[in-house]
Amino acid sequence: MNVLILGSGGREHAISWKLAQSNSIDKLFIAPGNAGTQNVGVNVDLSVNDFDSIADFALSNNVNMIVVGPEDPLVNGVYDYFSNNPKLSAIKVVGPSKEASKLEGSKEYAKEFMKRHNIPTAGYESFTVETLEKGYKFLESLQAPYVLKADGLAAGKGVLILEDLAEAKEELRAMLEDSKFGEASRKVVIEEFLDGIELSVFAVTDGKSYKILPNAKDYKRIGEGDTGLNTGGMGAVSPVPFANDDFMKKIEDRVVKPTIDGFAKDGLIYKGFVFFGLIKVDGEPQVIEYNVRMGDPETEVVIPRIKSDLLDLLKGVVDGDLDTKLIELDEQSACTVMMVSGGYPEAYEKGKEITGLDKVKDSIVFHAGTKSVGDKAVTAGGRVLAVTSYADNFKDALAQSYKSIENIKFEKQNFRTDLGFDL
Ligand code: AMP
Ligand code: GLY
Repeated sequence: MNVLILGSGGREHAISWKLAQSNSIDKLFIAPGNAGTQNVGVNVDLSVNDFDSIADFALSNNVNMIVVGPEDPLVNGVYDYFSNNPKLSAIKVVGPSKEASKLEGSKEYAKEFMKRHNIPTAGYESFTVETLEKGYKFLESLQAPYVLKADGLAAGKGVLILEDLAEAKEELRAMLEDSKFGEASRKVVIEEFLDGIELSVFAVTDGKSYKILPNAKDYKRIGEGDTGLNTGGMGAVSPVPFANDDFMKKIEDRVVKPTIDGFAKDGLIYKGFVFFGLIKVDGEPQVIEYNVRMGDPETEVVIPRIKSDLLDLLKGVVDGDLDTKLIELDEQSACTVMMVSGGYPEAYEKGKEITGLDKVKDSIVFHAGTKSVGDKAVTAGGRVLAVTSYADNFKDALAQSYKSIENIKFEKQNFRTDLGFDL
């Protein structure tokens, strides 16, 4: 099979690294890819939202399957673009339809879905500029902290958690009246604050059956001890030690099954990855959010723990016979430490030469924000490299990643040294 992966981060490097190991892969393309993906496939200079050019490329290169990394093309309807066009419908897209992608693209849509299917989640109401006064009243009825969420995609920045009522009201006003997050905050979901520890659970589905993938916990804040600004993710561990069999059973029964059944009941076409953003509150799982794709950096620990053939699993997803496929997992722990550019997630410089990658022997280095310049790899983003290691437990896996990082150099590099501190 010929496969095209859309995206350019650590997630896409991890997926392409795994698909390259499949017995049934012929050609593997990554668009646009990075300096790491070119070692496992062929990078193609295409933008992930330029569907016309992606289709031209896929047709002229006999691509059979497209695996979509980020949410943007999914929310923009890449699944429908291919499946609705008779000339393109033989090219199978791994991902949900445009309608089902609203589970990530609209917080209100996701909350309504959860309510309809009795999936545990925080109580909420949503507001527009016309109902701003009602929004203030609703805030007054809640206890601090106040959780405000821009309804639409806001590059991970659309959620505000505020301690002070007056501040929460002012932020609500700014989101609705001043378009603080642009179009994304035309509507705002206000929800109850949930106090607990978060984890991420992943599944693949063909819309009828599903397979649960390894779970993971990511570290979003830039600073040690989960302080400072939010980032795309500074590292991750898998499995999550507190997610024991009992807890995972609750998650499967109360969240995963009702979600997949909900797709069928609502007539949603969903053939792809499902990311359940969860929080454990008093021993019970609650859903914080759905994402319609894999997580990054979670993928860099989830995928390495899948022993079986990922392409075979994804064939089951697009062919609708996922129930006949087997998934075999690695019992070991995996962790990844994200090396980032100094200054990230605020302003940072790019184009710094990366050296020492060839000295890393006992970790897998997934490239995130890198590009090739001649025969060198240089930094090209905030998150630069995800250094993944395996061991019998997450602490040893982390220690191995930190040891490997000692070999890797680029100017102004930064990474968190305390991952797993809360486990
Ligand atoms: P989201 O984009 O919905 O995942 O929200 C971003 C982050 O905000 C989550 O990962 C949580 O840390 C936090 N968060 C979101 N909703 C809640 C909530 N209802 N209670 C507590 N924390 C929340
Ligand atoms: N690491 C969180 C995400 O991918 O959304």
